[in-house]
Amino acid sequence: MFATVAIVGAGPAGLLLARMLHNAGIDSIVLEHRDRAYVEHRQRAGMLEQGTVDALRACGAAERLDREGLVHHGIELRFDRRSHHLDFPALTGGRSVMIYAQTEIVKDLVALQLAEGGPLLFEAEAIAIEDDTLTFVRDGVKERLGFDFVVGCDGFHGISRAAIPDARVYEREYPYSWLGILADVPPSCEELIYAHSERGFALHSMRSPTVSRLYLQVPNDTDPDDWPDDRIWDELDARFAVDTDWKLMRGPITQKAVTPMRSFVTEPMRHGRLFLAGDAAHIVPPTGAKGLNLAISDVVTLAKALQHWFTTGSPDLLNTYSDTCLRRVWRAEHFSYFMTTLLHRTPDQTPFDTRLQLSQLHRIADSRHAAAELAENYAGLP
Ligand code: FAD
Ligand code: PHB
Repeated sequence: MFATVAIVGAGPAGLLLARMLHNAGIDSIVLEHRDRAYVEHRQRAGMLEQGTVDALRACGAAERLDREGLVHHGIELRFDRRSHHLDFPALTGGRSVMIYAQTEIVKDLVALQLAEGGPLLFEAEAIAIEDDTLTFVRDGVKERLGFDFVVGCDGFHGISRAAIPDARVYEREYPYSWLGILADVPPSCEELIYAHSERGFALHSMRSPTVSRLYLQVPNDTDPDDWPDDRIWDELDARFAVDTDWKLMRGPITQKAVTPMRSFVTEPMRHGRLFLAGDAAHIVPPTGAKGLNLAISDVVTLAKALQHWFTTGSPDLLNTYSDTCLRRVWRAEHFSYFMTTLLHRTPDQTPFDTRLQLSQLHRIADSRHAAAELAENYAGLP
């Protein structure tokens, strides 16, 4: 078997890359370890930057997104029992974000790939990457795939990263996790609410006009079974409490999961014919809503570089791929770290630490400059 570009992983990064290459007339094969239902239902991100939406539109994958996506013009910060609205278009020169679930992006891209694109093999696990060949296992049988280029879009737990010799790794683990829920209840807000409280962080997000997505900061190694539904709603109520008549609507919880928080970057993102994209190369804590957006941005940069190589024979853009991506990656790493440490409570938090957090939150609420710095990073830098 041979593909000009072998792609490992059918998350948003691998699927979008396959789509962009297909549109540019470059053939690829996508290998995905899991089955189709699993990748289409894995609950993850929901907040898309303008650049991500533009990339999906440009490759003809935004028909449903344009119908069902919810445009958001800002977020709400909640602290000291008060709400502060950040108006993104006013603070960023017109930029907005969109709520459209990662599960739906994956469903849209899988459907397009199967209808129009090259092979997308589910339950095919890559186990080794060599110079010009990849080995994978399907139905218990080892197979080999030759390639001109191979792209590791296999997420944080994939195998591609290990094929880069002498990589430098930078990482940080946080002393808390998120308990995320999906609930069949209309959102109690029009915009996302990021809440700082004495009891820890909480986030109110959404998936549609009838489905809410909420998160609670919890200790590492929390067992979701220790959190019956009433306990979750009571804790969310306590953390979102404000001195107005705002009320959190409750409804049946359909999913619960705990996610650890980590920052991680590997450098460089390329070795010879192997390129890394998305979570395979970098992880951010989800507080800044950057992970999916970074994955898409990597892939847009890589698709352009590959297209440039195949049309002109020039390796220039392939050679600068890693540095170009890493500049954006480190900005997102810093912003995600900033949002996370601003809003969460550490197990050994002192009153001094809390005062610093509140001072910064007041600064953002009171200063257009401070608010614009947050808004520009959140809505996505060009
Ligand atoms: P993945 O989605 O992880 O896909 C990798 C794929 O590779 C998987 O399908 C995996 O099965 C496959 N694979 C792995 N190993 C192999 C192998 N050996 N062979 C074949 N296939 C393999 N980001 C945002 O931008 N905004 C948000 O609002 C946001 N919220 C989040 C909330 C939560 C709770 C979490 C957990 C994450 C959130 N993120 C968010 C991050 C975002 O979900 C990830 O950054 C995104 O999934 C990265 O996409 P990817 O394609 O790089 O990797
Ligand atoms: C989500 O909708 O899942 C979401 C939104 C914003 C975040 C993290 C997750 O910062």
